[in-house]
Amino acid sequence: MAAVAVVTLLLLLAVASVARGGVTSTYRRRLQALPDMPLDADVFRPPAGFNAPEQGGFRRYSYGRKYRSGFIYHATLTGLEHATKYHYAVGSGTTARAFSFTTPPKPGPDVPYKFGLIGDLGQTFHSNDTLTHYEASGADAVLFIGDLSYADNHPDHDNNRWDTWARFVERSVAYQPWIWTTGNHELDFAPELGETMPFKPFTNRYPTPFKASGSTRPLWYSVRMASAHVIVLASYAAYGKYTPQWTWLQGELKRVDRKVTPWLLVCVHSPWYNSNGYHYMEGESMRVEFERWLVDAKADVVLAGHVHSYERTHRVSNVAYDIANGMATPVFNRSAPVYINIGDGGNIEGLADNFRWPQPEYSAFREASFGHATLQIMNRTHAYYEWHRNSDGVKVVADHAWFTNRYWMPTDTN
Ligand SMILES: *[C@@H]1O[C@H](CO)[C@@H](O)[C@H](O)[C@H]1NC(C)=O
Ligand SMILES: *[C@@H]1O[C@H](CO)[C@@H](O)[C@H](O)[C@H]1NC(C)=O
Ligand SMILES: *[C@@H]1O[C@H](CO)[C@@H](O)[C@H](O)[C@H]1NC(C)=O
Ligand SMILES: [Fe+2]
Repeated sequence: MAAVAVVTLLLLLAVASVARGGVTSTYRRRLQALPDMPLDADVFRPPAGFNAPEQGGFRRYSYGRKYRSGFIYHATLTGLEHATKYHYAVGSGTTARAFSFTTPPKPGPDVPYKFGLIGDLGQTFHSNDTLTHYEASGADAVLFIGDLSYADNHPDHDNNRWDTWARFVERSVAYQPWIWTTGNHELDFAPELGETMPFKPFTNRYPTPFKASGSTRPLWYSVRMASAHVIVLASYAAYGKYTPQWTWLQGELKRVDRKVTPWLLVCVHSPWYNSNGYHYMEGESMRVEFERWLVDAKADVVLAGHVHSYERTHRVSNVAYDIANGMATPVFNRSAPVYINIGDGGNIEGLADNFRWPQPEYSAFREASFGHATLQIMNRTHAYYEWHRNSDGVKVVADHAWFTNRYWMPTDTN
């Protein structure tokens, strides 16, 4: 037996040493084009029952065996003026509840606007601190970077936790725009509960204005607010070449007009640059697919969440790399965006405090704490950024930076 093993090993070594020089096969397929298979081909035949991709349709929102949602109403308001305060009421008679919101100002290059940046919020006591501190920051709108309720961390994805989350954030969400990015906790994909339609609770509850930007699904879209063009991407929907998201983003970047909206902000849940051991490199395939586009487009900031800590990068790119040239190290690049990971809202899963060492050169500041950030756009050239740490009941600015616009004044060396 031992002798046989040794012989096998020697043979393998021999094959390996022959192979080291590399071989280019001379085999070629016949270059003959073939027509499409006919529509009645066996491989196109629908399966019995209800399991073909084009089948399906609307159903009332229920989840698992136990949960049935209340009636969820959506109203689309059209013909609104910019920069105008609107009052509205929900319900009637003695049950009516009154709210108000202010629409964003008309897009223009020097229109100031202040965004709150929140991710991975959940509904813990920390989450409550984060929301309280955000309210104290006095921003105009929230870019929410995904992972809302964490209902799926409860038995059977207890969707009552979606209800409670909505009630929790109502004190801000009912009064100003929250721009939704989807995270993995919006998937709610649970075949063991009979729930096989990803994003079912999310899409039933949080409509997005995707049609207005020519998108075909609620998960990726754009909005223009004041002097910002905000692009929302979906980490958990296909983004490879020729997919609907890929095709949409390619067209969308051409529609960005930096003379009207100088600030190009991109939201995506799973980070492309992050030096925490948690979720390490999960965003890599999407970075490979889209980073060059964003650097070419001179995006200002890419926001991500997912990793439950805070991190801000320098302006780096890794677009020179291809799989053969060995140029695998991110380099400083004045055209590149700053990457901000803001997955520190304070959800039930706790902190990601597992940083990798040494800290990579691209990482400007990182801290495993909960908090939120604000991005205050002053005009076409300047924006002031702050990260607010939750610190035992008060908020503390623990990181800040001035960003200059990549299109109008690409001077900052952040
Ligand atoms: C959540 O925060 C609000 C605002 O600070 C506060 O009124 C409320 O008591 C807090 N709730 C809990 C459960 O901590
Ligand atoms: C910096 O980004 C630009 C724009 O995408 C790109 O053409 C250039 O190659 C990048 N520079 C380096 C050193 O990677
Ligand atoms: C833009 O805002 C910055 C920061 O407030 C200020 O220093 C700069 O002068 C402003 N630029 C213009 C053209 O007003
Ligand atoms: Fe996540």
